[in-house]
Amino acid sequence: MFERVVETTEYLRNKVGNRPKIAIILGSGLGGMVDYVENKIVIPYHEIPNFPISTVSGHAGELVFGTVNGVEVLVMKGRFHYYEGYDMKKVTYPQYVFKEFGIETMIVSNAAGGANKNYVPGTLMIINDHINLFGTNPLIGPNDERFGPRFPDMSNTYSKDLINKAKIVAEKLNIKYEEGVYLGSSGPTYETGAEVKMMMAMGADAVGMSTVPESIVANYLGIKILGISCITNMATGLATKPHAHEDVVDIANQTGERFCKWIAETIKEL
Ligand code: HPA
Repeated sequence: MFERVVETTEYLRNKVGNRPKIAIILGSGLGGMVDYVENKIVIPYHEIPNFPISTVSGHAGELVFGTVNGVEVLVMKGRFHYYEGYDMKKVTYPQYVFKEFGIETMIVSNAAGGANKNYVPGTLMIINDHINLFGTNPLIGPNDERFGPRFPDMSNTYSKDLINKAKIVAEKLNIKYEEGVYLGSSGPTYETGAEVKMMMAMGADAVGMSTVPESIVANYLGIKILGISCITNMATGLATKPHAHEDVVDIANQTGERFCKWIAETIKEL
């Protein structure tokens, strides 16, 4: 694994002279962030040695290097979901590459269902903690100490410092936000009504099918994390109609502009 990560990183270093310290993962429908990137170098996943390839529509599958507001960034457009059939090491492979590449901060975004009755579709939620309901953990297996410790602490996974910075920027830009707990489970089914009731009782404010594995691994690697959920629909039982992926992408696209402005401005403060 270590050698493969080094090989991938070397390939990317040879392609792009720059060395961003910030990586941004774009969730479903939030790909518009790429329009904010200047001096772009785009590398499709299928050209990158050892990189998995993403399969869901609405997820393009490319790394975009460039600058946002003059700050160097690495943008992941399209991520690897557990429900696609990738094992957890593949789902989180990019985080290992981030670390080797010198990334210090990961901004992770997703489309999610609202499990908090005060939310409405279009709400942007800062993730302040997560609940792992994937039924597995991406760090299961032999531990390579070159990456991180066997038993990683998770008490500041979503950096309080970054959360504060994001809040200050949101207030300056007059962007409304919520702050809450993201619960991740495997999908690809949306939750049942009974499951959402259970998740609400557990303390979930948003439910989705990503982010948790990536955050577990990034935290393990010592990368600081800022997480933002775009609430695209109310979760089952709170929603008035059945879910459809197209609606999820639509609402995320509509919310995208606020999301992008917020992220583009926050980057300057990191
Ligand atoms: N549940 C799980 N994942 C999601 C949802 C949802 O309601 N909306 C967008 N991603």
